[in-house]
Amino acid sequence: MISLFDRLLAPLLRTLDPELAHALALAALKRAPLPRPAADSERLRMQAFGLTFPNPVGIAAGFDKHAEVPDALLRLGFGFVEVGGVTPQPQPGNPRPRLFRLDADQAVINRLGLNSEGVAAVAARLAARAGAGGIVGINIGANKDTVDRTADYVACIEALAPHVSFLTVNVSSPNTPGLRNLQQAAALDELLARVIDARERTAVGAARKPVLLKIAPDLSLGDLDDVVGVARRHRIDGMIVGNTTISRPNLREAEKAKEQGGLSGRPLFALSTRMLAETYVRAEGAFPLIGAGGIDSGAAAFAKIKAGASLVQLYSGLIFRGIGLVGSIKSDLLDFLRIGRMESLAEAVGRDAAEVTAQPWPG
Ligand SMILES: Cc1cc2nc3c(=O)[nH]c(=O)nc-3n(C[C@H](O)[C@H](O)[C@H](O)COP(=O)(O)O)c2cc1C
Repeated sequence: MISLFDRLLAPLLRTLDPELAHALALAALKRAPLPRPAADSERLRMQAFGLTFPNPVGIAAGFDKHAEVPDALLRLGFGFVEVGGVTPQPQPGNPRPRLFRLDADQAVINRLGLNSEGVAAVAARLAARAGAGGIVGINIGANKDTVDRTADYVACIEALAPHVSFLTVNVSSPNTPGLRNLQQAAALDELLARVIDARERTAVGAARKPVLLKIAPDLSLGDLDDVVGVARRHRIDGMIVGNTTISRPNLREAEKAKEQGGLSGRPLFALSTRMLAETYVRAEGAFPLIGAGGIDSGAAAFAKIKAGASLVQLYSGLIFRGIGLVGSIKSDLLDFLRIGRMESLAEAVGRDAAEVTAQPWPG
């Protein structure tokens, strides 16, 4: 089924307008009679945030913004799914066109602007799959026109915590004006205090849900010092490094490169991997990290793990490599373990972090 999808549908999708292609991919996933995937090798298992992940390869936020297909995504072999970003109130996002495929660069630029069906619709869908199993987290954000951004995150946690495995506080979408300012130390301090408080309140009589912080790869190292310091003080459960970049590293598609928005895919790999390693050395083991940005092969996924990621997430790679990518990354990771004579992936986490941070800054 997966190879059928990649051979027949994926090439067709790549000829269409990217947003239409995405809608068709979701429609196909909703209808496809996907079989349950074969169990993953125990050597791919990873413990993080108090959860046991069957394999470390997740689908990043933004693919299933409204929680329409989390179970289909689990059936594709992902070890976990992050749905969203979701905002408290429904909002349309930016005018189209707002999603651009840079084929020659194997990259994407998006300025969707957190288009969301809103927390009520997403909570209802997640509630309807209660007991279905699998690790499904939610990425939460703030409405564009909100007055109190922090209150928006709290509202999302209150509505969604009972229905998810983890919550990701997204302060790094480049397409909601001002959102990234929440990464500044004082604002982040207040945000995380209220987020953790909301998490504790929603956990009364139920399991405490891990809270992860997702950051931009565009932070300066001084800002990263602050962010990791604040995150550690509030004892958050983990960080995702990271979101799309507003930088434009050496792109071939010069015209499309001028589009405003966040860049993802292969050209993001070097910067996001460097930021991951920088975060890893600052976190000093206080919490695990998820690495995201430009993963489109087993080698790229393993490089993230060695740079400090306990888990990885991808989105853009699927557009260019198809859904067979998930299986090929998993089998490559097993090969890398064999070659390196390692028993489990945990042994590889952070092995190269110091080396990565010593390299010249990726240009
Ligand atoms: C179309 C699109 C929409 C996205 N929407 C979100 C979002 O709602 N929230 C978020 O935190 N990240 C969002 N992202 C960022 C991804 O989750 C991921 O961090 C980033 O794309 C880097 O991974 P990649 O290079 O594998 O795509 C989006 C990315 C794309 C391409």
